[in-house]
Amino acid sequence: MSNSGFRASLADDFERFKRALPRDFGAHVRDTYRINLAARYLGEPLPHPIGKGSGQLSLNIGQLETDAAAGLAFAVLKTVIAQDAAGAQSMKAWAIHETKMKVEQRSGGWTVTWKGRGWDRSFDEYLALVRAGWDLTTSDALLTVPSVKYHLPRLTEPFRDDEYAFTTHALAGAWGESPLLLEKDFSPTLAGDALTDEKQQILRWLREVPARIRAHGDVRLAMKLMNARFDDDFQRDMMEAAGAADALVVFNRLFDSTAGVAYGGPELSDRNLRVLDRPSARPPVRPSLSGTGNIHSGRLIVEYATRGCSSVQLHTFFQLPLEEYPATDGSRTQRALHALIFDPRDGLIAVMLEREAAGQLQRRDGELHFLDLVPDAYRPR
Ligand SMILES: Cc1cc2nc3c(=O)[nH]c(=O)nc-3n(C[C@H](O)[C@H](O)[C@H](O)COP(=O)(O)O)c2cc1C
Repeated sequence: MSNSGFRASLADDFERFKRALPRDFGAHVRDTYRINLAARYLGEPLPHPIGKGSGQLSLNIGQLETDAAAGLAFAVLKTVIAQDAAGAQSMKAWAIHETKMKVEQRSGGWTVTWKGRGWDRSFDEYLALVRAGWDLTTSDALLTVPSVKYHLPRLTEPFRDDEYAFTTHALAGAWGESPLLLEKDFSPTLAGDALTDEKQQILRWLREVPARIRAHGDVRLAMKLMNARFDDDFQRDMMEAAGAADALVVFNRLFDSTAGVAYGGPELSDRNLRVLDRPSARPPVRPSLSGTGNIHSGRLIVEYATRGCSSVQLHTFFQLPLEEYPATDGSRTQRALHALIFDPRDGLIAVMLEREAAGQLQRRDGELHFLDLVPDAYRPR
């Protein structure tokens, strides 16, 4: 079929799938458009690049089951605050219940305004969620990955190793297989904390945290980097300092220090894409990148992919008012995936076909490949 023939099928599929998205839409896309959406996160193969970032949408097993049924590629569980064997948490300030969450417009895009807190139930309840996530992972229904905020010391202080030991052991036990896949959260609200006033302090964390965690288990580690309150060059310095991680999630939300809240929207993706565009001395391939920040279309997914991201993690787009999605039926996750993949103008298929027509993406053995959008130096092997 020609590029214009594919476009006609796309318009049909977009209409048809408004009522129901086929669960294995990746196979449908491959058969119909000869487009291979295969992607990767943290060394794991994915049927397509779209996952859910850690947060209020991965707090319970019901949410994970809905995501699995929708055909989401992966979900990062809500961030738990690390503790030692006695239950003490140095980052306790992040473990409190915070109810006010507002989905609203900011700078012409959607954002969720929220103070930003971690898991507020017991650690045992978190372990139960990790076990349920493992069951979905091992049955190939949905890759799930736990997320932790561990102790971060001041420059002159030591790391609290007992928190790293207890939490890592417990998560590895609940996960069931080696290696434990894990995200370490450096959250945007940290950017508003006096702890992050000093660049050297942040760089030390990024350099030392991977070894602190791996001392206690076989862990494949993603580090989710915050947007610090410094310039774009410092964001690159952070990426380089975090070179021992297996993957980097780039970059968590911005912090409004006047209102004391984290936010996203166009300012977030502008900043993230600008930083990823900057030349760096980063060694090729390791760590791989996963994009996050204001991803609300296939076009944005491609923007992150062409800057090195072999998967993406969304939150806000899975949280919009229902009438914002073109689909008329299905869960929010299904409706979001429908728009992200099949939108005839800005969906992932449309943008990949557009790049083919412009000579920017070539077929191999008759297929276009999502991972071919990712520059060589960043492509996971
Ligand atoms: C309400 C809310 C809660 C969040 N909680 C966490 C969290 O606990 N841990 C974390 O690493 N990121 C958290 N995030 C960040 C998201 O996972 C995501 O990286 C970020 O919002 C940027 O993506 P988006 O623009 O698609 O929302 C949260 C975001 C929102 C909106």
